[in-house]
Amino acid sequence: MRVSTPIDPTTTPAWSDLDDLGDSFEPDLRGWFAADPDRAARLSLQLADLHVDLSKNLVTDEVLEALVRLADQVGVADRYQAMLAGEHINTTEDRAVLHTALRRPRGASPALVVDGQDIDADVHEVLDRVAAFADRVRSGDWLGVTGKRVTDVVNIGIGGSDLGPVMVSEALKPYADAGIRAHFVSNIDPTDLAQKTAGLDAETTLFIVASKTFTTLETLTNARLARDWLWAGLESAGAIGADEGSRTDAVAHHFVAVSTALDKVAAFGIDPDNAFGFWDWVGGRYSVDSAIGLSLAIELGPDVFRDLLAGFHAVDEHVRTTPLERNVPVLMGMLNVWYVNFLGAQSHAVLPYAQQLHRFAAYLQQLTMESNGKSVRWDGTPVTTGTGEVFWGEPGTNGQHAFYQLLHQGTRLIPADFIAFANPAYPLADDGRDVHGLFLANFLAQTKALAFGKTEAEVEAEGTTGPLVAARTFTGNRPTTSIFAPALTPSVLGQLIALYEHITFTQGVVWGINSFDQWGSSSASSSRSRSPRRSRATSPLSPRRTPRRGHSSTTTARTGD
Ligand code: F6P
Repeated sequence: MRVSTPIDPTTTPAWSDLDDLGDSFEPDLRGWFAADPDRAARLSLQLADLHVDLSKNLVTDEVLEALVRLADQVGVADRYQAMLAGEHINTTEDRAVLHTALRRPRGASPALVVDGQDIDADVHEVLDRVAAFADRVRSGDWLGVTGKRVTDVVNIGIGGSDLGPVMVSEALKPYADAGIRAHFVSNIDPTDLAQKTAGLDAETTLFIVASKTFTTLETLTNARLARDWLWAGLESAGAIGADEGSRTDAVAHHFVAVSTALDKVAAFGIDPDNAFGFWDWVGGRYSVDSAIGLSLAIELGPDVFRDLLAGFHAVDEHVRTTPLERNVPVLMGMLNVWYVNFLGAQSHAVLPYAQQLHRFAAYLQQLTMESNGKSVRWDGTPVTTGTGEVFWGEPGTNGQHAFYQLLHQGTRLIPADFIAFANPAYPLADDGRDVHGLFLANFLAQTKALAFGKTEAEVEAEGTTGPLVAARTFTGNRPTTSIFAPALTPSVLGQLIALYEHITFTQGVVWGINSFDQWGSSSASSSRSRSPRRSRATSPLSPRRTPRRGHSSTTTARTGD
């Protein structure tokens, strides 16, 4: 394939403008809001069900306009169209990148045909099989080897074959309506499997081995351990004999697989009829909306899974059809570029005010950092700027009692996304007082305090004197984006995930990165159960050039293969 040369963002007129703006930049959220009472309304956008308030970011209109120009000058919109059309933008693997196809509705027009393959037909064929299988398990039509219904599903996978399913399962727990519990085993530390299977009954447990490649050491090891656990449990209960035929039969009833490598699934002993495929054009960290979500379809039901996909698609359509200056994922991605490349931010916090999203930051870590933690561009040349920042976070209010001190009064610039929902999943009251209201009050107070701080005069007016005044002063001008939705429904969750997928993509395009390979993580460890080969991960880092001003957060080091 022909690999196009990425546009070096630092050579664009918009980059020079941003450089100049960054040089003289004096953030003043108090002043900006005072001078422009419409700032919150002007800088708030609607993205499907998500109300996204960008007004507490450290940007003037001039900066925002320059960021939009930069997105334009590096070709964000063209690159997105190339992705949607199935061009092989994953250059190092010579693959299309089509996770957006996983959520196209049935009958979408025009049909998506890529490399001679009818992608829509392929996607819906697998989706229908996933739904049919989930319905069989949920209704009790699918039985274990001794004729009992499935009560527990254990997904065995790691990285993208785990983080998405476990995050969504936690987020949508209130929708689990079939009495089937979902468990997730990922770590090769045997504690994980031992603890997750403790208390389960082999006769009523179904294992899903989820692995795109079906070569991942952790997953295959855990799958073998699970198979031993199954046989031991069934044999000790006298449910099956120890002969090969009984064991094969047990695996056929208690193991299914999700993979792109169906030959390897068969070699493991799983009946190919009980395997659900996907395609090399789905990256692991973009795969929760593929058959990798089988555990979700079983736990939550196929309709909930379809609603999740519809939420993703709504955001895909927004990105496809909305001009850059109103395009929410593009704007959020460009704000991140502003913070990383011009204001020196090194990390980004994601702080959901929803306990159900307690694994969201972990999920985003793989999505963002495996995608944009790169120091070469898609044509193999070195990056010219700092790239992917560290993403992290915890649900509020837990974070408030842990790391918010640093967010409010530390010396680092840490942009943060605050996410909240108007209606709670569990509307509980404490002595007649709505606890969700109390929770939301924290969300509002924190974003306000981060933005506007507390001056010395305000501290003194509260009666504080002496050295304590300085300790109690908050500088403010700590940037946040507030994302607000009516409730954490399946569709809203799909919207949130797609939002961050496209933020990640936007940043990757600016930096000239192929956001869809991961040579560092798949080659730098012994995670693939293939013939060992020498890893170059331990080779000395090789700095190549002195970063330009504003790029101080990069080491421009080469890692991985
Ligand atoms: O760590 C690298 C990685 O390839 C991830 O991208 C992927 O999600 C994970 O390993 C698991 O891979 P697989 O689904 O092939 O088992």
